Amino acid sequence: MDILSSLTDLRTARLSLNGTVGLVPTMGYLHEGHLSLVSRAKAENQHVIVTIFVNPTQFGANEDLSKYPRDLERDLSLLRPIGVDVVWTPTAEVMYPPGYQTWVEVEALTNPLEGAMRPGHFRGVTTVVAKLFNATQPTKAYFGQKDAQQAAVIRRMAVDLNFPLEVIICPTTREADGLAKSSRNKYLSEAERAAATVLFRSLSAAKDLYASGERDAENLRGKMKEVIASEPLANMQYVSCADYDSLQELETVTGKALLSMAVFLGKTRLIDNFVLG
Ligand code: PAJ
Repeated sequence: MDILSSLTDLRTARLSLNGTVGLVPTMGYLHEGHLSLVSRAKAENQHVIVTIFVNPTQFGANEDLSKYPRDLERDLSLLRPIGVDVVWTPTAEVMYPPGYQTWVEVEALTNPLEGAMRPGHFRGVTTVVAKLFNATQPTKAYFGQKDAQQAAVIRRMAVDLNFPLEVIICPTTREADGLAKSSRNKYLSEAERAAATVLFRSLSAAKDLYASGERDAENLRGKMKEVIASEPLANMQYVSCADYDSLQELETVTGKALLSMAVFLGKTRLIDNFVLG
């Protein structure tokens, strides 16, 4: 496994990989969610590149960039047994050299949900992912459904900018009690960790209501709010029942829909989602 940080070394390593290449972009502090993407990339490609870069441009001024958990040695020890060819860990100077002024922006899809709560976040994500695509030239690139809007935005960008690759979205990996795996779960106290199942519980309650025939989106949002409100340690930021493709809020669920939410447990902000239909 080559562990590289310069762009020149990455390009040289990429040129030596013949055949299909799967890319898994990450910000490190890897957990089973990330590793499920890496295993899928390994199964579907001759070679795998994993990138680890805590991208400063996707963090807001009040967000946790400096506190974001990092443990490169642990990450490498998790990637080695899977048979990853290259791990690229560029520095901020490699990705954003002095004088940097070029940005990739996806428009309407980035306005609601996470985009509304985290101004500028998706501009940072799409810019860095476009740069990672250019640097690594993958055949397929793997992202998690856990970040549903990010997945939709990257898919759109790849089509709009004619990237010659396939974007693959992989299912959300969860703990036994339903909590979606996330690097941020480690910030939770024991009581907050127990309360954090409220995201999965409220999504499940709304999904059950949908399964029983409910199609009024406001009632589905109401059910999610009710379950979150019943958990004293949880503070809802938003709940949504939106069209799967446009991410616009629905009045009535007719086709495929996305139930999603952001909830604070103390200072930790968690997101989760289910797809309906
Ligand atoms: P990061 O949060 O490290 O996540 C890397 C990838 O792992 C993303 O595609 C994310 O959706 C996926 N992932 C995270 N938790 C998951 C889970 N429980 N199940 C399945 N997949 C999961 O997302 C980012 O980094 C960054 O925004 C990035 C795309 C790397 C750009 O900087």
